[in-house]
Order: sequence, then C-alpha cells, then structure tokens
Amino acid sequence: MEKLMVANVKMNFNQAQAKTYLETLLALGEAKHKAVVCLPFTSLPVASQILQQSFISLGAQNVCEEENGAFTGEISAEMLNELNCQYAIVGHSERRKYFAETDESVNKKIKLLLKHSIKPIVCVGENLKEKETNKTNAVLESQISKALSGLYENEVKRLVVAYEPVWAIGTGKNAAVKDAENAIVFIRACIGTMFSESAAKQIQILYGGSVKTDNAKSYLNSNQIDGALIGGASLDAINYHQLLNVWR
Ligand code: PGA
Repeated sequence: MEKLMVANVKMNFNQAQAKTYLETLLALGEAKHKAVVCLPFTSLPVASQILQQSFISLGAQNVCEEENGAFTGEISAEMLNELNCQYAIVGHSERRKYFAETDESVNKKIKLLLKHSIKPIVCVGENLKEKETNKTNAVLESQISKALSGLYENEVKRLVVAYEPVWAIGTGKNAAVKDAENAIVFIRACIGTMFSESAAKQIQILYGGSVKTDNAKSYLNSNQIDGALIGGASLDAINYHQLLNVWR
C-alpha cells in the first residue's frame, strides 16, 4: 500500500542546495510511496518551478497564524498557496520548544491552511518525562482536542497528523513499532470521538522520530501507520529516495 513519506529538511539547504537536492531526487525516478518535501521558505520559489508536474509535492515547515497584515517577518497561508505548497508542517516540537508555538496557535494555523487548500501536517507527541510518567495518552488527547477544535468533519478528513514522540526526534532512539501503533490507534480514537468514525478512518497518521532506512520497513508494514515524517535521514537525496521505495 502506498504511504506518505514527508521529508522535513528543517533549516538546511540554501537555494542552490535545494535545487541540487530536488534535481537529484527527480533524476532517481518515480518512487513507490508519495513524496512530500518540506523546505525552508527561501527555497520554495525555486522548488515550485523544479517540481511542476513531478511526483514530488512541495511543503512548508511553518505558516503564520494570522491571515495578513502587520505581522513583521511572517509568511501567510495565501503566500504558500501562491508558491504551490500543498502541505505545511504545524506544531513541530522544535517550534513548540524554541518558538513558543501552542496548541491554540496550531489550531489557527490549521484553519488558515485549509482555507487556502494546503494540507496541514499536525505534529503531536509526548516528551521523555511524560512518557516515563505514563502521560502519553493524556498529552495526545489534549494536543489533538485543542489543535482540532472547531474544525468541520470534512476538514478533518483532509488533515495529516504526525505522531512524533519528542524524545525520538533527532536522537537515533526511534519508538518501538508497537508503541507507535498504540499511540496512533489512540489518536484515531480521539478523532473518532470528536468527529466521526469515518473521519478517524480517513485521516492520515504518520510516525516520525529517527526513521531511517534500517527501521522504516517495520513502521510501513503496520496497517495503522500511514507513512513517516523524516528529518535527518531525508537530508541526503539518495537516502530519502531509498526510503520512498521501502516496501514490505
Ligand atoms: P528525525 O526528525 O527524523 O531527524 O528524528 C524527525 C522530525 O523532526 O520531524
């Protein structure tokens, strides 16, 4: 089954490097899974040109929670749409930690992205202390209920959620497949309660946190896990292309 494999290149690649990265990916040819590359804002215009009618979709890593106006230094959902961004990451743990992103701002961002036909990739997940004190489900329930508050059922079906335990991001300590599955089943149940069974079934839920070529298969084999959000291992085009072709 085709999965969604999102590359989060974070604050890497100037325009020239992004161009080389994308051209290398395209030259490697079509992949088995759906590819989305989330680039820094400055590389989006060049990427938008290169990726026209290709098998790779373009994504951003953030968006402003306001529609437009006096918000110096911010980038709006409408501006991302103009650059053919089809996806945008919101609520990544690095943004929550370093840039004070909250569930309330994530909620506003999701609504604006949907309004401008961009699929939000909503990141949720517990930190190490919360994991060790068995608070994972409580954290997930709180993040999901606040982030998705006020959405319509048909909007929720268009979302992507990424379960990313904070302790697994960039650490090489990926979550056990069973634990990732349990968290994803729980997130689906929360969405089922908040919206409907059909929304819970249709929403795509990814796992993220130290996904590499040697562990990706075990996540993708799970019927519960719809794909992966990949940081470090996506930075090398050949490596990311291998991940796009991992098959059971
Ligand atoms: P990682 O990052 O794959 O390097 O752990 C994942 C992420 O931050 O989305």
